[in-house]
Amino acid sequence: MSMQTNGTNGHAMNGRNGHEPAHYARLKDAVRRLAKERHAVILAHNYQEGAIQDAADFTGDSLNLARYAQTTEADIILFCGVHFMAETATMLNPTKLVLMPDLAAGCALADMVAPEQIRRWRREHPEGVVVCYINTSAAVKAESDLCCTSTNAVAVVESVPADHEILFVPDYYLGTYVKAKTKRENIRLWKGYCPAHTVILPGRVDALREAHPDAEFLMHPECGCLTKQMDLADQILSTEGMVRYVKESPAQTFIIATEQGILYRMRKDNPGKTFLPASDYASCHYMQRNTLDKVFRSLVTLQYPVRVDPALAERALRPIERMLAISYPESVSKSAGSSTARPLTEPSMRRSSPVSTRAGGNSTKVRAPS
Ligand code: 13P
Ligand code: SF4
Repeated sequence: MSMQTNGTNGHAMNGRNGHEPAHYARLKDAVRRLAKERHAVILAHNYQEGAIQDAADFTGDSLNLARYAQTTEADIILFCGVHFMAETATMLNPTKLVLMPDLAAGCALADMVAPEQIRRWRREHPEGVVVCYINTSAAVKAESDLCCTSTNAVAVVESVPADHEILFVPDYYLGTYVKAKTKRENIRLWKGYCPAHTVILPGRVDALREAHPDAEFLMHPECGCLTKQMDLADQILSTEGMVRYVKESPAQTFIIATEQGILYRMRKDNPGKTFLPASDYASCHYMQRNTLDKVFRSLVTLQYPVRVDPALAERALRPIERMLAISYPESVSKSAGSSTARPLTEPSMRRSSPVSTRAGGNSTKVRAPS
């Protein structure tokens, strides 16, 4: 088997042939020791290199990482993922120091929509509702009504009254999936896409399925090139949904259509099962900028802090809190009143209703700006 490199960090594909730089075993211990000394929690997205997942306190998808960050009592959150995730963490828990190992770990998809483009759409659609994928900047979130992740996008869109037009940004393919699931026609889709998922090609998937007829085929909803074959997927799931599904399924072989970093966790959790990447090239160059060396350096130097201007954060939190109220209704304080139980019913609510937030474990109220 040829050695496959994983993205920009040059390490062999996570877990596939067991290769890690020689110093990593000791470095993992040093990272753990230092994290404890610093009272830091290390959060890792499912796409991170295996060694970072091993050293992390918690590995997950965008939704459960956001929730973990919101509720942690650690002093420092070292976020091993991409910038919009760390930005969300710092807004949800503003009293903590949120660090990223590499500030250049951005997201090509998030860069495909800008706040002024949303403002323009709003001027033309005053009654419209903007739903933004969590893969957006804080500035875009601040212009949006509701946020969603791949886990809850359908539920979030279903919370919007049927007679309101929706603009869904920025992922066209997740939007297409949501449109199909909700059978809703009045959704305008932005034409953004994730480059890491575009290399997953239908021909390769067909060949794998033919060669492994008993395999289950799992797909992330960002997989644009497979949109036409959506109904061919056995499951369309978020990264954490996939990790959970492969554990519970009696199937022994799985074809995985998403970024290949996720295979590390699947193989580690399920040593007897076989996981086949739908593409050997599906690697996120942003996610893979993070390495264990950089994680260690971050803990030593306390670099690189991620901060969001408080006025912007107040506006950007509103759609995030509405999303969390849908996915974690138990987290919404009873005293917050009915407006949080009904995350968004009328566009006019956007401008006047208080939205309950739990920042740093304290329930507070944020009033939407007029
Ligand atoms: P998940 O929320 O499913 O982990 O997806 C995040 C992401 O960026 C996928 O490319
Ligand atoms: Fe963004 Fe795609 Fe990377 Fe996810 S995999 S962080 S959507 S560029």
